[in-house]
Parts: sequence; structure tokens; C-alpha cells
Amino acid sequence: MKTRPIGARAAHHAGVTWQQEFEAAAAARPADPDWTRGAHLQSALAASLQRFQVGEAGDGANLIGKADRAGDPGYAAAVRLFVAEEQNHARMLGLLLDAGGVPLIGSHWSDAVFVALRRSLGLRTELMVLMVAEVIALRYYRALRDGAPDPLVREVSGRILADEERHVPFHVDRLRAGFATLPVPARVVVVAGWWVLFCGAAVVVAWDHGPALVATGVRRRGFLRDVVGLVRRVVADVFAVRAPAGAR
Ligand SMILES: [Fe+2]
Ligand SMILES: [Fe+2]
Repeated sequence: MKTRPIGARAAHHAGVTWQQEFEAAAAARPADPDWTRGAHLQSALAASLQRFQVGEAGDGANLIGKADRAGDPGYAAAVRLFVAEEQNHARMLGLLLDAGGVPLIGSHWSDAVFVALRRSLGLRTELMVLMVAEVIALRYYRALRDGAPDPLVREVSGRILADEERHVPFHVDRLRAGFATLPVPARVVVVAGWWVLFCGAAVVVAWDHGPALVATGVRRRGFLRDVVGLVRRVVADVFAVRAPAGAR
């Protein structure tokens, strides 16, 4: 599984659009877990989930506006469904925190910086910044799904993770097309900048959320190593020289 290209369209059924894929996921979404059974959230995990809850709430309207202006109705529809999934993550994390008797926080400085940065960018660059959060989310929710002591935390994380696994290839596809004609020297600069962003954010998250990760059995260093492995695949998928038609 480790070598599977993360954004390969080959993984999709021929002719299935992202809009259809998001619609199918929405139609198949199960009813909410039973929140009344409560959750035991120890303090490090509670603080970590509070911050991820704010992050998931994000700034979808801004992204939808940019997608609308890109002039591709199918893509704009898929982006709306993508934003709805992120909103649903924020909603579920809110209810999870509630079930654990933990209040929500209104905002966090890291999210305010992230949203301000995204707003100032064009669609393609915003997707690159967004991808940083998506890749980190893949490893964060996997750690919680597999190692959190509380069953409700594991269940919610598993549901969110299943969506995040669709988000990364969705953005990869758009970025691959967006950078297809970029000359090689410019690609080198963009890739270098992206790596700096990825690594900077991964270190901040590993540091900031380290105690919560450790409580799931994932050490900071292991988390970072895993994120770097994913970044390598994402960057290769977006910028690799295109294989001949039908080769993937
Ligand atoms: Fe999410
Ligand atoms: Fe996501």
C-alpha cells in the first residue's frame, strides 16, 4: 500500500468525476454515532481536538468563490461538496468534544494565520496551502483512529479519515492540471517552497500536538517521518513528468 501513488486517477473508476465521487460518499454517509455514550478525553487530546475542530471549520466560502471563478462548473460543484465534508468534520468534532464535556474554542492563532494566508492567494496556491493541512490530517486522524483510548474518538477519527483520503487525490488532480505547463525552473522553485511549507507545518503540529499523538502511541519523530513520506508521494504525483496516456 505504501507505494501506491496517492493521487492516481487510475484508482478511480473510468469516467467517474470528482463531483460524482463526493455525491456517492454523501449518499453513503452513515447516521451519526451515539453521542450520548460520552467520551473520555484526557487533557492533551482535548486541547488538540479543540484546535483541529477550529481548523476543520475553515474558510470554505472563500474557496468556493475562487472555484466558481475558475469557470469549471463540475469542479465548483465538487468543491462545494468538499467544503461540506470539512464542515461536517467540524460538526462531528464539536459533538465529540461535547460528549467529553469539553468546551469549543472560538479560534486559535495558528488557524487565523492559515485562513489569512489562504485568502490572499489564488486558487492554485491556496490548494497548495490547503494540501499541507490535508496531508497532516491524514496522519493525525490515522493516529487517533488506531491508537486513541476512547472508542468514540476512534470512531469519529475513522469517519473523518475516510473523507480526508479522498481530499488529497482530489486536490492532487487539480494541481497536476494546474501546473502541467509550468516550465521546469519555475517548478523547482514551487516544489522547494512547498516542501518548506510542508516541513514547517509538520514540525509545528508535531510539537504542538505531540502529547496527544504520544497518547495514541505515535511519537513525534515517527509522525514527522510519516508525513514526509506522504509529502514525497504528493509532490511526485503533482509534478512528475506525465506518463504516456493509459500508463496509469
Ligand atoms: Fe477535514
Ligand atoms: Fe480534508
